[in-house]
Amino acid sequence: MGLILGIESSCDDAAVAVVADDGRVLAERCVSQAEGFAAWGGVVPEIAARGHVAAFPGLVDEVLREAAVAPTDLAGVAVAAWPGLIGSLIAGVTCAKALAARWRRPFLAVDHIAAHLAAVHLNAQSVTYPLLGLVASGGHSHYYLLRQPGAPELLGGTIDDAAGEAFDKAAAILGLPYPGGPAIDRLAADGDPRALPLPRSLLHEDSLRLSFSGLKTALLYQVRGPLGRDELHLDAQGLRDACASFQAAVVDCLVGKLERAARAQSVQAVAVGGGVACNCGLRTRLAERCAELGWRLHLPAPRHCADNAAMVAMLGAQRLAAAGDGDPLDLPPRPTGAAGPRAAAR
Ligand code: KG4
Ligand code: ZN
Repeated sequence: MGLILGIESSCDDAAVAVVADDGRVLAERCVSQAEGFAAWGGVVPEIAARGHVAAFPGLVDEVLREAAVAPTDLAGVAVAAWPGLIGSLIAGVTCAKALAARWRRPFLAVDHIAAHLAAVHLNAQSVTYPLLGLVASGGHSHYYLLRQPGAPELLGGTIDDAAGEAFDKAAAILGLPYPGGPAIDRLAADGDPRALPLPRSLLHEDSLRLSFSGLKTALLYQVRGPLGRDELHLDAQGLRDACASFQAAVVDCLVGKLERAARAQSVQAVAVGGGVACNCGLRTRLAERCAELGWRLHLPAPRHCADNAAMVAMLGAQRLAAAGDGDPLDLPPRPTGAAGPRAAAR
């Protein structure tokens, strides 16, 4: 059994975990700066990076102690090295390189988006391939074909906002705090999803293109008048209804295109990750549709859908098993980068 230490720092969460290559999570810790950023209405990159630098040394010690693991027990040190905020990435990647060099262990630089899909292996779920993957997060909403673990091939996705970004902007329109997804999710539970007529852009187009910018604008005009400049006049139930209507539109689009993608690839097993996969409406719809269609659904626990280090360690374990070795210590973090090649057209 190989143990991997994973480090995640691509946005505002600093996270460290120790994971076994069979998916068991021995220990994990996450320091979130989200609350501090509520006052700013979003992540301030420089503040996030400084927070990570302060958090990592203590987090690594705590996680190793809780897992009762010595550095000599580790098979490698994995880190999400792209995509993300460059200052935040530098903090995590520098920490991982220092530990790998100090402990003489392989350094494993992995793709944050591919790691969201590797999260389906956590806690020893049995997963069979091929899979149709969806990553819906603050920066991505894309579909992937996974013929084998750790190697997503891009099929298509959003042409403007990511789903999480749309949730965050809709929350701002509705006067709700950042991050908007959890706030909308909570209020939507008691709202009427048919209350506001909102568009499902591109849903019926024969493609995997998603678009959320028109949805966001339609919400703005419906709750703040035809020019989008009026005061928000929603009572408590009106707010819940607006949240439920917006959430239903996003879920319709994400799940509709997921079904289209899976059918096109003749795949009957799906994997969904990313912060938006915490959404209760999305989780319920996925469970219902997959049950109706007889498809297998791999949906990580909510804490492993949002940014976390266990998914990074899991992908690192898969990379080490496939490649047998780590990456050079001069490999730089990158702010951009797609998860894997584009799948061949069929
Ligand atoms: O994967 P993630 O933690 O970070 C990125 O890689 O972006 O995703 C963060 C995004 C944010 O936009 C947040 O609003 C959204 O995921 N999110 C949710 C929920 N929890 C987090 N969106 C909808 N419903 C939720 N319950
Ligand atoms: Zn993420």
